[in-house]
Amino acid sequence: MKGFTVALLLWTLISPSCRGGGGGGAWPTHMACSDSGLEVLYQSCDPLQDFGFSIEKCSKELKPKVNIRFGIILREDIKELFLDLALMAKGSSVLNFSYPICEEALPKFSFCGRRKGEQIYYAGPVNNPGIEIPQGEYQVLLELYTEKRSTVACANATIICS
Ligand SMILES: *[C@@H]1O[C@H](CO)[C@@H](O)[C@H](O)[C@H]1NC(C)=O
Ligand SMILES: *[C@@H]1O[C@H](CO)[C@@H](O)[C@H](O)[C@H]1NC(C)=O
Repeated sequence: MKGFTVALLLWTLISPSCRGGGGGGAWPTHMACSDSGLEVLYQSCDPLQDFGFSIEKCSKELKPKVNIRFGIILREDIKELFLDLALMAKGSSVLNFSYPICEEALPKFSFCGRRKGEQIYYAGPVNNPGIEIPQGEYQVLLELYTEKRSTVACANATIICS
């Protein structure tokens, strides 16, 4: 898993951040984690770039602190950064959620304040509500955006819990 993540990140970081015109189809699907009954797959929905993401030791019983790895080239300054998340199951909306990640007065992560063009690589814990994921298949849409509402990253993910 570690080797995979590093390879993916390297590939993400060295591949051109713009695919050029021609709209060459969708980004490949990546596996963020696969472990004891839980599988998380994601695909970048930002036409301009892909990014690397993985979850360490994922499990159906989501721990309050999980370690993630995340690598991307910034398309925008991230003085402020927000996350929008929409969760769907069987085609109907279950939950919408919006969360500030970087705020000027409250930068929660070391990468807050980085500039457009810089590469960020984060490996560390994120807090989340510790819950047990009910069995099923879920679709998740994630978007990271700045205070100017410019997209930094966008992904759609599938979570399969068996
Ligand atoms: C992302 O969305 C596309 C288009 O709706 C879909 O074909 C693809 O399976 C989705 N990928 C994941 C990992 O959920
Ligand atoms: C979430 O947002 C979408 C689009 O804005 C909306 O259609 C949906 O009803 C919302 N779902 C919930 C559970 O509030």
